[in-house]
Amino acid sequence: MNEKKYVIYIILSLVYPIIKLIYYINGFLRMRAILYGLIAGGITICTGIFAIYEYKKEHKGAGKPVGHWLAALIPLMIIVLTPLVMMLEKGSQWLQGERLTVLIIFEVLAIAQFVTAILMFRELIFKRGEDKLMMPGIGFVIMKTVLTVRNIFRKPEKTLRKIGLKKGQIMLDYGCGIGSFTIPASQIVGNNGVIHAVDIHPLAIKTVKKKIKKGAFKNIKTILSSRNTGLPDECVDIVLLYDVLQMIRNKEKLLEEIHRVVKPDGRFFATSEHLDMDEFMNILTKGKLFTLVGQKGKLFEFKKKR
Ligand SMILES: C[S@@+](CC[C@H](N)C(=O)[O-])C[C@H]1O[C@@H](n2cnc3c(N)ncnc32)[C@H](O)[C@@H]1O
Repeated sequence: MNEKKYVIYIILSLVYPIIKLIYYINGFLRMRAILYGLIAGGITICTGIFAIYEYKKEHKGAGKPVGHWLAALIPLMIIVLTPLVMMLEKGSQWLQGERLTVLIIFEVLAIAQFVTAILMFRELIFKRGEDKLMMPGIGFVIMKTVLTVRNIFRKPEKTLRKIGLKKGQIMLDYGCGIGSFTIPASQIVGNNGVIHAVDIHPLAIKTVKKKIKKGAFKNIKTILSSRNTGLPDECVDIVLLYDVLQMIRNKEKLLEEIHRVVKPDGRFFATSEHLDMDEFMNILTKGKLFTLVGQKGKLFEFKKKR
């Protein structure tokens, strides 16, 4: 169940007032202390519900995951505020007896909620990638850095030559990111070839457009899209899906689009990164669309089933 983390977050929120109540019933705390538990619980429950609503609702374009940010920020505030409030209330005795256990429980709860919120962000980024919420801007900036470092070791141009990209060919770089493969591919195919660079993220398209302008590349066409490329049927020689599949929510629909645009004798390369190998193979070959041809380094080659 995709919403599991959100449910855990909300359950953790319920523990704040419950703990205070148990201590109150046992005579360890005064009524006022319950108030803090109620406020902490109430606010985090509302934030959890807001985040789950944000996750579930149909979002067009670049959604700003405010609920998710709050879900991470509020536990951080609780971590800092709990000892402060107790210190102000109880003076020098704030760390004695039952208060110490209440403090520890509150801190552990808040840390658990913070970690859950980070995992909720992962869910948002990776499960909602396709035509819904894309990764937030900060996620893209982090990814940009990671890809830049990765490219030092993986050498995209070498990879493209290894898979046999040739002069004059038409390539679809699906999920082009910062253009790691788009730019060298453009140089390999030359003026008679074309590279279609597709990405869901406006920052990716902006980055690639900047590189096109800087290098005066004439054979790259950028497409901002979450699935449909808008390309004619059977027009592409090579489709590249490098480090993208794990981010796609409706993988079947994307494979249908790739199947539609690739030429009958075209080639389709994908990496299995961040996916279990059986799951990867199952996704790509279970239907009527593609069969596995072989493997070149990290890339698996598929061809169209007729
Ligand atoms: C990890 S990056 C890889 C970028 C590039 N292929 C590379 O290896 O350098 C994945 C890219 O896929 C894009 N992406 C995710 N879901 C997408 C979707 N549904 N449609 C198009 N692009 C998508 C992301 O925005 C991101 O730029």
